[in-house]
Amino acid sequence: MGSEKYAGKMVLAPMVRVGALPMRLLALDYGADLVYCEEIIDRKILITTRTENAVLGTIDYIMSDGTVVFRTCPREKDSVIFQMGTSDPKRALAAARKVEKDVAGIDINMGCPKEFSIKGGMGCALLSQPDKIKQILTTLVEGLSIPVTCKIRVLPELEDTITLAKMIETTGVAALAVHGRTRDERPRHKNRNDVIKAIVESLSIPIIANGGSKEIFEFGDIERFRMATGASSVMIARRAEWNCSIFRKEGKLPLYDVIKAYLTYAFQYDNNDINTKYCVLQMMHEDMDRLEGQKTLTIKTNEEISEVWGMKAEYQQFLQDRKRQSDTLQDLNSDSHQGFKRRKAADGLPLIELPLYFDKKCYLPAKSPKQSLHEWCFRCNYNHPLYKTEEHSRDRTFNSRVLVDGKWYTTPLWQKRKQYAEQAAAMCCLLTHGEHDGRVKEPDDQTPELRHKWHQIASSVNHGINSALPDGQANGEKSAVVLDTSEVSDNSTAVAEETNS
Ligand SMILES: Cc1cc2nc3c(=O)[nH]c(=O)nc-3n(C[C@H](O)[C@H](O)[C@H](O)COP(=O)(O)O)c2cc1C
Repeated sequence: MGSEKYAGKMVLAPMVRVGALPMRLLALDYGADLVYCEEIIDRKILITTRTENAVLGTIDYIMSDGTVVFRTCPREKDSVIFQMGTSDPKRALAAARKVEKDVAGIDINMGCPKEFSIKGGMGCALLSQPDKIKQILTTLVEGLSIPVTCKIRVLPELEDTITLAKMIETTGVAALAVHGRTRDERPRHKNRNDVIKAIVESLSIPIIANGGSKEIFEFGDIERFRMATGASSVMIARRAEWNCSIFRKEGKLPLYDVIKAYLTYAFQYDNNDINTKYCVLQMMHEDMDRLEGQKTLTIKTNEEISEVWGMKAEYQQFLQDRKRQSDTLQDLNSDSHQGFKRRKAADGLPLIELPLYFDKKCYLPAKSPKQSLHEWCFRCNYNHPLYKTEEHSRDRTFNSRVLVDGKWYTTPLWQKRKQYAEQAAAMCCLLTHGEHDGRVKEPDDQTPELRHKWHQIASSVNHGINSALPDGQANGEKSAVVLDTSEVSDNSTAVAEETNS
């Protein structure tokens, strides 16, 4: 069920416009354990295309007009909760399945009092339809491999609230977030901490208390709010929107430092200009008479914001980095990559390929590439290399791949012997990492310059893609570049799988 994920946690609340990637990463930097994205309507995510953006190192869900509906990155994979607006179990499941592999959990918004939500049968409208709630949550719990939660508001009557919360618990949700205000109450109304407490006492799943921003001023107040509600976890919206460093156990940072840290992420991740401006203005809400606040009001783009906040050089640097990364990836897609290829293997792991042929006369019997690879893996604390070999049924040639540290290495060339095919795969792994493969003589088809070039390309791909994206997912649209994405199959037969120990 995944309840432990929600116990004893500090949580960044879902917030439209605010809860995009830059704010979520900032909250994680400052100490939040879980970060909710802004509410995204199921229909909307369903019409997006999932794209791995190799330039930014993000996973983007993009509409056909280029609008990024949801952008995430591997760093937050275990902490980001995808909050959805829905009124239909099947559609909710389809939408959740679409993002399931990129997020840590799915949350259903049952607290939004806005007209568009209510009219669509979503948000608060669900609170008066327990059967619908049950259908949606059980469908999700049964159909997903990640935890499911929901976020509700309290009902006017305590008894009704408890009945609803208990019913929600029976659906198998991992936790329940409760905003202690009713549908008709506004932020100025007192949060009903006592109602949250009563829910906590009636349920056994973790309750995430929400609605305390007006009583949370410093880090220590988070625990005070938690105690007042008796909840397991605390979810903060406005106080974090105003100064996200509220999550820092060492104490809040000066607002301008927080704004600049936020802008750094906004520039790095090419955040939507309107969102960036909105967030900065929200952070400045009590200081709007200051020059930076006034100037931010009048401008539109991230670039202009960078000027106002004295961060132009940093902004330009991100642009340059992006351009360089884009050029490198373009280069890899062209002929200049000397046969280096990276694609996704059928098992989803990255597969790296170099056009290598094992030439026995270049090695001493006691120091083969396989032997060298085995020693290198031992030094690096990796598991034994795992070899997998295919035999071409027509001409009895062999092709091997070797699995090292979660990546496959291979060559497109086929060898007359299985042993040699394995040696070639081992060569690929070692050369990719700039390691010596034991050769005593340079093979005819390689020069030290070529080997150097391969290593350079591999390093730049590892830097740009491996570090940023889940392994083996290197494609994308727009600024991203598609390396080969699918496994090539032929009429060969797998003949062996063994470790070299
Ligand atoms: C700018 C903003 C946007 C919000 N968007 C969402 C949302 O997308 N989904 C949601 O469940 N609640 C949303 N909320 C409500 C908050 O998550 C939270 O329930 C409410 O602000 C009370 O918590 P607080 O006292 O910590 O602010 C939003 C609140 C704000 C201020």
